[in-house]
Amino acid sequence: MSVPEPVALAADVRLSVADAPVPRTLADDVLDGLTAPFRELPPKHLYDDRGSALFAEICELPEYYPTRTERSILVAHAGDVARATGAVELVELGAGYATKTRVLLDAMAAEGTLRRFVPLDVSAITVEACSAAIATEYGTDVHGIVGDFLADLDLVPDPVGPRLVAMLGGTIGNLPPGSRRHALRRIARLLDADGRLLLGVDLVKDPAVIEAAYNDGAGVTSAFNRNVLRVVNRELGADFPVAEYEHVAFFDREREWIDIRLRATREHVVHVEALDLRVPFVAGQDLRTEISSKFTPARLRGDLAAAGLRLERLLTDPAGLFGLALCAPRE
Ligand code: AVJ
Repeated sequence: MSVPEPVALAADVRLSVADAPVPRTLADDVLDGLTAPFRELPPKHLYDDRGSALFAEICELPEYYPTRTERSILVAHAGDVARATGAVELVELGAGYATKTRVLLDAMAAEGTLRRFVPLDVSAITVEACSAAIATEYGTDVHGIVGDFLADLDLVPDPVGPRLVAMLGGTIGNLPPGSRRHALRRIARLLDADGRLLLGVDLVKDPAVIEAAYNDGAGVTSAFNRNVLRVVNRELGADFPVAEYEHVAFFDREREWIDIRLRATREHVVHVEALDLRVPFVAGQDLRTEISSKFTPARLRGDLAAAGLRLERLLTDPAGLFGLALCAPRE
């Protein structure tokens, strides 16, 4: 039997996996979330394989403007960003399928500076697939990290030169204001003086436009939202009657965030076997599954300042729907 010659890969591909990957925190999060005075579940549990696929579908919906708008801003400005930062490595937090990332990697490759890509995501399948693909396509070193962008930043290796950290899609908006500043402070620690953060933020605009993006006509967002109940049913032996919850998403004008909930349509008791927990729901009772904050430049500057960062440039689309903030550490 002939054994194929090993192929010498130019690129070095590594993988680090956090000790306590996200699924292990589900039980604690469900216990806290279902026993709190106002019930809620953290949005990271929305993204099992099915949830990730539904989210990819959301990104293509006509009402969901953030993804395509952010991509258009990247296409227009990635070259400037690569040149201005001189970045040799891209660290992407919440990389997902890394489709928008390619626009940045292309620009860095065109500048001739690209040496390493460091994708971090909670989904192991996603990190493995995109690490292999990018190493092959770009011939660049890749250090993939399976972990949480809050808890596992210590797995990010030291910079090999000017670093660009990207957190795209508006993910930072999932965090309430205090946690958001805390997260930004930790992210800022990944940067040396020559490092930069590229942060995708959805901007405050006509509430009707925002609400339409989270209440699509095809019902994909509703399926995505209710999927978290299927995750809890499967992983913790719970019996949420998934079909009897409705998707609710509205713009909270005072807090300037989209508030996303699941509303029980009839009275019932949920039993969570793994926690030996019984939780009564009355008709009309809500369980919050996500907030998605929208930013004004002033709010953004305030959050960045609290994290020791300064807004260098705010790149936007012509209609001002979405922003890409290029942020530098303050001396
Ligand atoms: C991935 C958090 C940026 O807030 O717009 C989309 C998630 N939820 N539709 C967002 C989401 C419902 C999305 N982020």
